[in-house]
Amino acid sequence: MPGNKAVIYKGAGKVEVETIDYPTFELKDGPGVNPDNVGRQVPHGAILKVVASNICGSDQHMVRGRTTAPQGLALGHEITGEVVETGRDVEFIKVGDLVSVPFNIACGRCRNCKEGKTGVCLNVNPDRPGSAYGYVDMGGWVGGQAEYALVPYADWNLLKFPDKDRAMAKILDLAMLADIFPTGFHGCVTAGVGPGSTVYIAGAGPVGLAAATSAFLLGAAVVVVADLQKQRLEQARSFGCETIDVSQGDPKDQLAQILGEPEVDSAVDAVGFEAHGHGDSAQEERPATVLNTVMDVTRAGGAVGVPGLYVTGDPGASDDAAKIGSLSIRLGLGWAKSLAFTTGQCPVMRYNRQLMMAILHDRTQIAKNVNATVIPLDQAPQGYVEFDKGAARKYVLDPHGMIA
Ligand SMILES: NC(=O)c1ccc[n+]([C@@H]2O[C@H](COP(=O)([O-])OP(=O)(O)OC[C@H]3O[C@@H](n4cnc5c(N)ncnc54)[C@H](O)[C@@H]3O)[C@@H](O)[C@H]2O)c1
Ligand SMILES: [Zn+2]
Ligand SMILES: [Zn+2]
Repeated sequence: MPGNKAVIYKGAGKVEVETIDYPTFELKDGPGVNPDNVGRQVPHGAILKVVASNICGSDQHMVRGRTTAPQGLALGHEITGEVVETGRDVEFIKVGDLVSVPFNIACGRCRNCKEGKTGVCLNVNPDRPGSAYGYVDMGGWVGGQAEYALVPYADWNLLKFPDKDRAMAKILDLAMLADIFPTGFHGCVTAGVGPGSTVYIAGAGPVGLAAATSAFLLGAAVVVVADLQKQRLEQARSFGCETIDVSQGDPKDQLAQILGEPEVDSAVDAVGFEAHGHGDSAQEERPATVLNTVMDVTRAGGAVGVPGLYVTGDPGASDDAAKIGSLSIRLGLGWAKSLAFTTGQCPVMRYNRQLMMAILHDRTQIAKNVNATVIPLDQAPQGYVEFDKGAARKYVLDPHGMIA
């Protein structure tokens, strides 16, 4: 049996590439595996040769030591691959298929899956509803920043690309279907973005830029992206976004200069709990800043999408309340404005097929907009370091040299 090189979390600030077991159709014990998931049989699964596996801001929360992720966890939830083996219960997915893997692991059998809420599947994670590959508190499914990965409930979870050659020609764009493109799109849809909308997007990381790309796809009139990293703001401007540097002060003032009024129809939080403050406090963390700003800048009756991650446990938080995810948000303001508010994992399956079609038919350029950058699996540790420093790039690991 071949080995399986994978990116392993080694404690705060450190990842390494190590060889782990080649996947089998059984969930084995290991770092972060819930005891109730050990020995779980996966005859409905498929083993993929990983073609692309991206580094995500969600991984960075763990790698910065801001979660309870155990050392030894194999990382990676943004997987695109080629099927090399199928379990005996897989009916429709075939060996050789080129597929995108939604980062949410879902059973397709529970009440939530039946309602399309695949981000909170009830059957894959004994700890809580919702699961993902290579992630803390998500049941222990092995991560896919690796040469090979196991995907359970393959017929349900996998999105097959209709034509392999055409897909390989756009593989960098299609690699964004596993997470950030649907996630940014979901942020915009739940924020009510449509033709002619004005949109405020907090965060010019890959998710923020994917949300901006989605806003244009949905017909937005003006897309304003905010961050404090100049390179990332420049990347947002490269495809037609207006930008706000939050280190220069309250974004509301800058919004008024851009739009002629200090509010927007829709706002998206693509930052999450490691948010920085604005103006003078821009170099410090203020976990509730973005939540309060999106409520502040959204018009009465508007909606806010919150794909940015908020946690139930943050060992690195500066105060005790934030250590258990309790933040000081001005809910009264949101209530007074009748704002709608959507949080949580993006149910990727709700959008990935439509976004695949938009990519294949040249309606959107997601890889260019997020500056997708291919690196070999062995260079993942450097990729993590550069991404953490705020590189205006979305790193795509290429474990078998199939892209580069
Ligand atoms: N809901 C989901 O399904 C889902 C999926 C993927 C990622 N996420 C989450 O989305 C968030 C963004 O992901 P990413 O990969 O783009 O991460 P990232 O860390 O690369 O980007 C976050 C950006 O926010 C900026 N920022 C910090 N404070 C700010 C502020 N006050 N205003 C504006 N910008 C500010 C940072 O400078 C950074 O550029 C993360 O929390 C990630 O965990 C959620
Ligand atoms: Zn991700
Ligand atoms: Zn389910």
